[in-house]
Amino acid sequence: MRVLLAGATGTLGSVLIPLLLAEGHQVLALTRSAAGAARLAASGVQPVQADLMNADDLLAALDGRQADTVIHQATSITGVPFLHRHLYATDALRERGTAHLLRAAAELGARRFLTQSFFLGYGYRDHGEQLLDEDQPFAVRTGHRGFDRHMNSLRANEEQVFDAPGIDGIALRYGMFYGPEPATRRLIDLARRRRLPAPRPSGTVSLIHIHDAATATVAALHRGGPDRSYNIVDHHPVDFETYFSAVAQAAEAPPPRRVPGHLLAALPYVHALMVATRIRLSNQRAVDELNWTPRYPSYHDGLAALL
Ligand SMILES: NC(=O)c1ccc[n+]([C@@H]2O[C@H](COP(=O)([O-])OP(=O)(O)OC[C@H]3O[C@@H](n4cnc5c(N)ncnc54)[C@H](OP(=O)(O)O)[C@@H]3O)[C@@H](O)[C@H]2O)c1
Repeated sequence: MRVLLAGATGTLGSVLIPLLLAEGHQVLALTRSAAGAARLAASGVQPVQADLMNADDLLAALDGRQADTVIHQATSITGVPFLHRHLYATDALRERGTAHLLRAAAELGARRFLTQSFFLGYGYRDHGEQLLDEDQPFAVRTGHRGFDRHMNSLRANEEQVFDAPGIDGIALRYGMFYGPEPATRRLIDLARRRRLPAPRPSGTVSLIHIHDAATATVAALHRGGPDRSYNIVDHHPVDFETYFSAVAQAAEAPPPRRVPGHLLAALPYVHALMVATRIRLSNQRAVDELNWTPRYPSYHDGLAALL
């Protein structure tokens, strides 16, 4: 298969490339920088240098090329998004970026489009103990301006892909990444410096090891149904206090410091995520339809492999 991969130099893109090459796919790999292009060429893919927020730039760079599938993994999440505005660039990549990539897909002759979506599209709130499947309402507006901007972009991302004529659109609603990737390295570093806070009460999230996120993506490339979304998460949702304690233990660091959750209220995004949201996702559809199983069923397994 010929694949255009946006976000090729990113956390997930870098893990995905060797898997795609191992299956014999030809990969056109998008990056904005010359340094990124050099790294990509060295890894055995064909770099394409363009900014996907600039449609003319993107279409010009891809002129005369062909692809069967487009995979959109471009985000702009540098560090923990403490404030809503830290997600605006990613919101834009999910709205305009996706629109531009769909135009590119049409020019390339691609019939399949996989896009990165996000488990928090089910809403930053307490969903209780139930396991949420993909039929639950997704990216619903709440009336809160800060969150609705992210919800609008998550919805626009998926809807554009599902509605695109002549394209089988697939949305991969990844859980929170961990593993050999920057966010986990930061947690380990904080734990070793006794700076890792564990909020109490503590929100619950569904995680996915970065390797399993990549294998699920390859499975979706082959077996994802048209206009279908998939929760890509492991089998064991976990609360932040337990997860951070496990990170500290695995890193042979002291237990994290308990922090009363209300102290995080000054950082509304962080408070919503780490204190107020309880979200537990079912991966049953991905397991059944993609014939995919996570190598790391829980954070225990993934952290043990990492450290
Ligand atoms: N589900 C999750 O939990 C989740 C999802 C996403 C990210 N994250 C976290 O966020 C952190 C960053 O990860 P990441 O891989 O997404 O980000 P990253 O390492 O910063 O990579 C972002 C990718 O998007 C590309 N990109 C960004 N803007 C672009 C544009 N305008 N045009 C073309 N390409 C563009 C970048 O390409 P160039 O810079 O080469 O142009 C790069 O390949 C990690 O810690 C990760 O765990 C988590």
